[in-house]
Amino acid sequence: MSKIQDIYKVVSNEKLCPKFYRLCFDAPSIVKTAQPGQFIHIRVDQGLEPFFRRPFCVYRAKKYVEIFYEVVGLGTKILSEKKKGDDIDVVGPVGTPFSLPAKEVKTVVMIGGGIGVAPFLPFTDILKKRKLELILLYGGRTKDYVFNMKEFKSNGCKVHITTDDGSAGTKGRIDKLFSKIPIDSEKTFVYTCGPTPMMAAVQKFTQQHGLRGEGSCEEVMACALGACLGCSIKTTKGFKTVCYDGPVFDLDELIF
Ligand SMILES: Cc1cc2nc3c(=O)[nH]c(=O)nc-3n(C[C@H](O)[C@H](O)[C@H](O)COP(=O)(O)OP(=O)(O)OC[C@H]3O[C@@H](n4cnc5c(N)ncnc54)[C@H](O)[C@@H]3O)c2cc1C
Ligand code: FES
Repeated sequence: MSKIQDIYKVVSNEKLCPKFYRLCFDAPSIVKTAQPGQFIHIRVDQGLEPFFRRPFCVYRAKKYVEIFYEVVGLGTKILSEKKKGDDIDVVGPVGTPFSLPAKEVKTVVMIGGGIGVAPFLPFTDILKKRKLELILLYGGRTKDYVFNMKEFKSNGCKVHITTDDGSAGTKGRIDKLFSKIPIDSEKTFVYTCGPTPMMAAVQKFTQQHGLRGEGSCEEVMACALGACLGCSIKTTKGFKTVCYDGPVFDLDELIF
């Protein structure tokens, strides 16, 4: 039986664009079990600062496990300094993954804001085998948040990009791209992850057009095992923990 916590070796850690990094580590047991939408919980340093582990989506789980991350504070700064051969202390994979689209679905639309694009790459690795139309709508603040999306494209994804200032892709918020979503309640399924206002805009759109979807949420976490209730959010079905009941929820359940 594989352990839920273990120490792994960093294989590489590279900057993909001015704002985003990709860290790759050798964890065959996670590669074997991780499902798209699940996350891992990393102890970035053996000292007391930062005290809690930090959660990151599984960005890829092929030969190695990859995470795709932005430096926003101490934990991610320490992560960005990891080098090949360093040890990394990881719990996971944990959390509820994306559900696979029903068989009548022909088009899957993934809508990611900034680092919220992270859970979608492993999902396209699976979905491409089902010969679905795959559309990725990505919104970043500026061109510094836009990276080479060749792995999405090579999985057959049609990629559309917006930036707030128009420095890459279409100028404006991601809702400028909602016209790319085929309006068909049976054949289209939407998945989204990103900042709360963006997810709220996606939910409003899907509800207006009778589309179904799922949203992956973020909350500050302590245990990531459903024990401390620190990551609870209010949903239409009562309070739920993002780490255990989620991070993926039916989009209609989420209250923004
Ligand atoms: C299920 C899940 C999956 C995630 N996946 C990724 C991922 O794939 N890539 C990635 O870069 N980030 C991801 N995050 C967010 C990531 O965990 C935080 O950015 C990270 O913990 C920040 O740690 P820090 O010590 O660098 O920053 P801190 O010093 O802890 O905080 C810096 C700033 O970031 C904010 N912040 C901290 N934690 C979170 C959080 N969980 N959600 C939203 N804002 C936060 C703080 O409020 C503060 O403003 C995910 C979060 C969750 C809950
Ligand atoms: S972080 Fe403890 S219950 Fe989710």
